[in-house]
Amino acid sequence: MELSDDLCARLRDTFLSTGYTADGVVGVLGAQAHAALGRGEPEPANRATRDAGPLGTLIRLFLLGSAEPQAAIHAALGAQAASMLTHDGRATLDIRPYEDWWVVADLDSDLRGGAVPADHVLGVGHASINLTRATTRRQVDTLLDLGTGCGVQALHASTHAQKITATDVSTRALALAKATFRINEIDVDLEQGEWFEPVRNRRFDQIVCNPPFVVGPARVDYTYRDSGLDGDGASAMIVRELPEYLTEGGVGQLLASWLHRKGEDWADRVQGWLPHGVDAWFVQRDVAEPALYVGTWLRDAGIDPRSPEGRAKAGAWLDWFAANDIEGVGFGYVTLRRTDADTEVVCEDLRHAYDDPLGPEAARWLDNVQWLRDNEKNLRHTRFRVPETVVLEEVATQGEDGWAPIVRRLHRMDGPGWQHEIDEPTARLLAGCRGALPLEDLLALIEYAYGEIDTDAALPMVADLVRHGMLIPS
Ligand SMILES: C[S@@+](CC[C@H](N)C(=O)[O-])C[C@H]1O[C@@H](n2cnc3c(N)ncnc32)[C@H](O)[C@@H]1O
Repeated sequence: MELSDDLCARLRDTFLSTGYTADGVVGVLGAQAHAALGRGEPEPANRATRDAGPLGTLIRLFLLGSAEPQAAIHAALGAQAASMLTHDGRATLDIRPYEDWWVVADLDSDLRGGAVPADHVLGVGHASINLTRATTRRQVDTLLDLGTGCGVQALHASTHAQKITATDVSTRALALAKATFRINEIDVDLEQGEWFEPVRNRRFDQIVCNPPFVVGPARVDYTYRDSGLDGDGASAMIVRELPEYLTEGGVGQLLASWLHRKGEDWADRVQGWLPHGVDAWFVQRDVAEPALYVGTWLRDAGIDPRSPEGRAKAGAWLDWFAANDIEGVGFGYVTLRRTDADTEVVCEDLRHAYDDPLGPEAARWLDNVQWLRDNEKNLRHTRFRVPETVVLEEVATQGEDGWAPIVRRLHRMDGPGWQHEIDEPTARLLAGCRGALPLEDLLALIEYAYGEIDTDAALPMVADLVRHGMLIPS
């Protein structure tokens, strides 16, 4: 499915002139019909577009999956548009405004009305958006989008990368990504091939990857989600190989899955994937038990888990989980930086809800790790301050002598909302962190006032708080 240069140019012109943009669509639909469409309820949007002229035609054609009169489509998009229509006037592709761009993808199972084919090209989904929000957006010269699909990660990359390379194994994905880039007039070098094969011997300042990370037996039912590698093999392989394709100090970010196997800590598992010479941050966002996992991914492909096909697939998949002692599947973000130092790895859970995008935090995490590396031996001589966004919560119970605190918890009110439980001496230490006295003086004062303090325990805690932006060197 190749969209010609002429057709892409025509689509762009029409989209701009009719106002088929993210704001334009909301403007016509209004908040309620727009929200209803997001819930998969098209009728309010259908009614709202009745008198909206060519823009209404485009919304019904591409966003509602309606059949539109050939004459109206020709008037809006020209005769060439016939190549992307069914004989009864429905769109065969999903072309929708997304932020400041348009994205070309395949119709999802709702719009198709059934299961998607094996080479289905995903549009902008939750996982895509999660990765866009978790990606650092510092200016770079070269960026690789591995497994570009509809091209969404590369679109975002165009705001901060000079040269973008996008790869995919799928011919169909590359054709649709090409159309996405043409309509948006964005220059991207597209390469076809498996994993890193198309970029052998090349290095990039930044790599982003939303891989086919669904875990299961080594089989490919759907290219967009199955890697053909057993279990979490795709995530493991990408984490292992990606740093080799980074320039010194270059950063790679990906979504990944990891198995939770009986008797094995997930953090030990993912650490085993890392090569030498990387800073690695694994953030676990969720853990799904096998039944939930299988049901979710069957529905995602448009397969009803109650149907005979759904039950057979679920049965085989659950057998595989059981045979491999898998109790759950962890999912999250991985940030990797190539360094010339020993590998440094932090694995942590971030399962609570938060609003701020993780990308700026990832950039800051990398800065903080570098600062700690450079100042490892100097922590005692450093002045720190607690930022205004950090607050202390105390939980106390009534005792013989009144309220007795049993929990002290630091909260960061911005970013990912980190929390740390701390003890009483650490609370006292932080109370003194106002940028005036170096740590060693504060420790001496606390020791003098309250008795001995365990500095060996205090310094790793300080390092943890620095990594999470809860203590700032000043
Ligand atoms: C989950 S989709 C991500 C698409 C898009 N980057 C996004 O963020 O929405 C995974 C993509 O990886 C591609 N892919 C699957 N197996 C691959 C392989 N062995 N090598 C390269 N790309 C692959 C698929 O075709 C698909 O486009």
